[in-house]
Amino acid sequence: MIQKAQTGIQALDDMLKGGIPRRRSIILAGGCGTGKTILSEQFLFTGAKNGEVGLYLSLTEPKDKILEDLMEFSFYDQRLIDSGKLPIIDISYDARLHGVGLSSADGMCGLIAKIIQETKAKRVVIDSLTAMVANLGDVERIRGFIYDLGRQLRALDCTTIMISETEPQSLKYSVYGFEEFIADGVMMITDFERKGELLRAFQVIKMRGVKHSRNKYVLEILEDGIHLIPLFKAGIE
Ligand SMILES: Nc1ncnc2c1ncn2[C@@H]1O[C@H](COP(=O)(O)OP(=O)(O)OP(=O)(O)O)[C@@H](O)[C@H]1O
Ligand SMILES: [Mg+2]
Repeated sequence: MIQKAQTGIQALDDMLKGGIPRRRSIILAGGCGTGKTILSEQFLFTGAKNGEVGLYLSLTEPKDKILEDLMEFSFYDQRLIDSGKLPIIDISYDARLHGVGLSSADGMCGLIAKIIQETKAKRVVIDSLTAMVANLGDVERIRGFIYDLGRQLRALDCTTIMISETEPQSLKYSVYGFEEFIADGVMMITDFERKGELLRAFQVIKMRGVKHSRNKYVLEILEDGIHLIPLFKAGIE
């Protein structure tokens, strides 16, 4: 039986029979503003509340801005930040600091391993994988990097969400088209319009080792975090 890492999002934990399979790397794909960062942070806070260190590796936003946005939510807990249970690291800054080029696959893998060992992280979020691989050059190197990174994260005992930035209202899961085959799971958030309102839909596309629903859910962002409501219950056909 695969162990699970609870996400703290009730409907998602139910869907995945307890949470994201442990020691696996999954992709969370979606367009801008669909809730990728909030969902991933809720996953980290949920783990940190139970003593598991959750590492957030950012390439798109500085730490202070991320924290500012998160403070609005009831799952936010300053004590977890202060006690080092939820380190937020600007990895592009860290790479520069350590003289690691963003175009060096081995350098980046090594740096991530070092940060995980130092922080003792058990949950990791990479925000975003799209930005992380952008400087690696050709697709074969990117493919190799994602594969090696996944293996390394597993060896380090980490459960990981890799964020994939997709085009608005796109049905693609990734930029290069192969990331989703390397990952152990794919969850996707898409925008859709109803009566002039832009809504968010959430779907688990794949999750190796889990018998899960592939139904669409309406994703709502409330004060206590992400909520998933089955389409039929939301009154949307
Ligand atoms: N406190 C809040 N309550 C409800 N909704 C919020 C709150 N804060 C932000 N949002 C909504 O969440 C969206 C941002 O979510 P999030 O940062 O997780 O998106 P994202 O998918 O990571 O976007 P990006 O690709 O730009 O990083 C905002 O555009 C807004 O619609
Ligand atoms: Mg984001």
